[in-house]
Amino acid sequence: MLKGKHIILGITGGIAAYKSVSLLRLFIKAGAEVQVVITPSGKEFITPVTLSALSGKPVVSEFFTANSGEWHSHVDLGLWADAMVIAPATASSIAKMANGVADNMLITTYLSAKAPVFIAPAMDLDMMAHPSTKRNIELLKSYGNHIIEPAEGELASHLIGKGRMEEPEGIFEYLKNFFASSQDLSGKKVLITAGPTYEKIDPVRFIGNYSSGKMGYAIAEEAARRGAEVTIVSGPVSISTNSPNINVIKVESARDMHKECLKIFPQCEYAIMSAAVADYAPVECAENKIKREKDEIPVIKLTKNPDIAASLGEIKTPKQKLIGFALETNNEEVNAVEKLKRKNLDMIVLNSLQDKGAGFGTDTNKITIFDCEGNKTTYPLKSKNEVAKDIIEYIIK
Ligand code: C5P
Repeated sequence: MLKGKHIILGITGGIAAYKSVSLLRLFIKAGAEVQVVITPSGKEFITPVTLSALSGKPVVSEFFTANSGEWHSHVDLGLWADAMVIAPATASSIAKMANGVADNMLITTYLSAKAPVFIAPAMDLDMMAHPSTKRNIELLKSYGNHIIEPAEGELASHLIGKGRMEEPEGIFEYLKNFFASSQDLSGKKVLITAGPTYEKIDPVRFIGNYSSGKMGYAIAEEAARRGAEVTIVSGPVSISTNSPNINVIKVESARDMHKECLKIFPQCEYAIMSAAVADYAPVECAENKIKREKDEIPVIKLTKNPDIAASLGEIKTPKQKLIGFALETNNEEVNAVEKLKRKNLDMIVLNSLQDKGAGFGTDTNKITIFDCEGNKTTYPLKSKNEVAKDIIEYIIK
């Protein structure tokens, strides 16, 4: 799986840097081409000579070579790579990556990398548990980086806890699995709706909902990572994507979302309806801001919005798969299965607001999948990135 892959191995200044030698050997043995980039403090823990001898390439650490003045282009490196692995990643480098502090070659390379990034933290348990580290790791996750979680165990300080870098074999396996599943949606076109819709009442007010778009964008990232050409028709959200395989069409209202979906769906193999679409919209948007009148309470007359999922269900061909979501507060299973049938879906992903950590705004979700053959699969609470993986895997299966 890793044969011929271009891997940047980033090494930062932690005790676990000695393990990077084994990781480098595993990559080289698997036929990958590896460019080591090491931070100045990383060199205190492991010598560049060992790393260049094993990788067959000079190790990069500075922006240019002192005696020749040769410039090392982090941009070229970032474009060259199929993957960037930072192992070990210290609390300091994690903070720099999370906040764009580009003061060494490794961080500039990270900021220039277009390829998937894998980060294996390694630090003492208290540093790992500090809210600052936790927040930085969450930030990295929100950029789509893969965190290879550290294990519990004895640390260099002899304390026992979470912070031990995943073993080289574990990191190697993680990348192997990543590339194994990497291109199974190659050549496929996927339409995803995400986020809320805003239905205008007047120039400053709207009917909306709490959807953050996180679930839809996570599914888009996962599909794009596996080679799909993805279009997100997105309601107003504060998140974005850097993936070159994802095209985002921004809309506000359900009607606009509907219009865009009808245009795009005929070219797609899959459509995943994760948007929280408003069922009703004001009949008209007032031209000017509605003023507070002394005695009169304004009445907003509503009209039904189109059901986007149902209308795609009507025009769906046998070669297309349509996936819906059901966010329920009660009578969850019955409602989900009823929607699956009524909207002519192939599969529906249920999440219940009864489950802690599921639904709007959270970084986690807990889902149950029902398909049109009557199967039901329940999953535990996971990060939205992991849930996206489960959903895509189910669709492919
Ligand atoms: O009927 P309900 O809104 O619960 O259905 C949820 C599913 O239908 C989601 O997949 C949602 O994106 C989709 N939907 C839609 N257009 C609507 C309402 C819901 O596509 N107007």
